[in-house]
Amino acid sequence: AKISVIGAGNVGATTVQRLAELEIGEVVMTDIVEGLPQGKALDLMQAGAINGYDTRVTGTNDYADIAGSDLIIITAGIARKPGMTREDLIKTNSKIIGDVARNIAKYAPNSIVMNVTNPLDIITYVAMKATGFEPKRVFGMSGVLDAGRFASFIAEELKCSKKDVEAMVIGGHGDLMVPLPQYTTVSGIPLPELLPDRTIDRLVERTVNGGAEIVELLKQGSAFYAPSSAIVRMAEAVIKDSKRIIPASAYLEGQYGQEGIYFGVPVKLGAAGIEEIIELKLEKSQFEILRKSSETIRRGISQLGL
Ligand code: NAI
Repeated sequence: AKISVIGAGNVGATTVQRLAELEIGEVVMTDIVEGLPQGKALDLMQAGAINGYDTRVTGTNDYADIAGSDLIIITAGIARKPGMTREDLIKTNSKIIGDVARNIAKYAPNSIVMNVTNPLDIITYVAMKATGFEPKRVFGMSGVLDAGRFASFIAEELKCSKKDVEAMVIGGHGDLMVPLPQYTTVSGIPLPELLPDRTIDRLVERTVNGGAEIVELLKQGSAFYAPSSAIVRMAEAVIKDSKRIIPASAYLEGQYGQEGIYFGVPVKLGAAGIEEIIELKLEKSQFEILRKSSETIRRGISQLGL
């Protein structure tokens, strides 16, 4: 298999490192900055000799090198600075991703595309439109990361292993995401059986602010270790056609009462991309946040005049 990662910054390069260590295919890394992807690729090739992997990693500034990719992961653009919302990023990143997407359509017309660049649900829509690909071949990474954060806070609270926690988070990737305690389990035990509502509410709130908490601590840049872990989990599902049921930002055509936008829902993910969207029964208040979230996303898209 061949995987291309667009953007050799924190998220992109860490993703390439994790992919190389997995040995699931050749990896190409591109960036607009000359020398950056080449230097990091060389470094990662040398790490293979010590770590014990044979993955071919190439760095390039030329989109022609992504030809023949099975999967393309978009991480190019600018990240949030302290106090900045994901929505502030709309204009800059949609321009960058429009250009990236046109190059994907030109050089890798048969690829599956995973977008990571924020604001996630809006930029994923831009990527779908600008590639002209069928919506199921273009999706965004958000829920796997958000659910990972929720799971990590739950394990900490219960003083139990993170391995036993399976969390579910849907909705827009941002302040209006919807962690779902009733669909979150610890070794099959529903979360509400294990923790009082008040504690769950506190963990939900920390999850919603999970990205911002890290931005504030770092003072520059944003999270990339957990994001790259989430990306690679999704990439593996595509490359191995494992049909995992996990959350992804997917194009909705009537599901959850929404049409013509992307937001996070549970999907079946395989080699064809989003193979199915799973509709869950939700509480009224959760449905209300979803509705609000969809409005924010719609407003973002209409700002772009697409
Ligand atoms: P970064 O600033 O470390 O890296 C971004 C890279 O994109 C830079 O190397 C830059 O040179 C490159 N770039 C800029 N314009 C480009 C273009 N036209 N073509 C190719 N490359 C270009 O940022 P980081 O931390 O890697 O984040 C990348 C994006 O991922 C941001 O938009 C961030 O908000 C988003 N993100 C999304 C997450 C999610 O859950 N979906 C989680 C973490 C980050």
